[in-house]
Amino acid sequence: MRPLLIAGNWKMNKDLFETLAFLQGLKAYAHKHAEDRVQIAVAPAYPFLVTACDLLKDTPVKVAAQDVSANDDGAFTGEVSATMLASLHLPFCLAGHSERRQYHGETDFVVNTKLKQVLKNGMTPIFCLGEKLEEREAEQTNAVLERQLADGLSDINLLTGREIVVAYEPVWAIGTGKVATPQQAQDAHAFIRNWLMNNYNVAVAEKIQILYGGSVKPDNIRELMLQPDIDGALIGGAALKLEQFTAMLDTSKEVVKIK
Ligand code: PGA
Repeated sequence: MRPLLIAGNWKMNKDLFETLAFLQGLKAYAHKHAEDRVQIAVAPAYPFLVTACDLLKDTPVKVAAQDVSANDDGAFTGEVSATMLASLHLPFCLAGHSERRQYHGETDFVVNTKLKQVLKNGMTPIFCLGEKLEEREAEQTNAVLERQLADGLSDINLLTGREIVVAYEPVWAIGTGKVATPQQAQDAHAFIRNWLMNNYNVAVAEKIQILYGGSVKPDNIRELMLQPDIDGALIGGAALKLEQFTAMLDTSKEVVKIK
């Protein structure tokens, strides 16, 4: 079985003091409740990545960046390169989050360039994709996922399946409180895994962790994580409170025992 990866995406939340308080609490939790089959990651804002890496260095908690520049180093004011992130020994970096696509006009081509930057610098990208409400209503979900996968992964060679994590996040479920049903999520995940099987191979597709994201909460995470093709969660709002985040980790630990 693939391990579950439970990742908190804090977005533009938490200042330095809030970041420290949360991470100290999470560190104490992780020391007491380690379980190899439940991997933990948090994605704080850029300014706090160094602090987060230092604080979590001897713990199982992994740090992720929320985004990365599509460019190499150079005259790109305000951007952060993959080389810079790699120098912190960050294991993960998100790419293609729907808020980047929506508010910053990131196309599938830009997402593809970012994925290549992250991979080239030895980090694991968490490649986010998912359909909008109107696309689901027009029964275009699979066509959209197919386009995002084909364009996002264009010219990316995966040899083991451990090089990348995919996060299926239906846009209509993000921050709306409207979670996909476990069956809707499972169907999309199975479609993604099948695409990976056809475009890479069975062994690679079987190894790739596919996370679900979109209004995951303590009271719905269990049913989602029990689905055969759901290998973790990318959590926004409910990952901001330590008690909620650790409650979801506890539930995930129960799930891996029976999955
Ligand atoms: P949400 O966000 O859990 O607040 O819906 C998920 C995400 O954007 O990754």
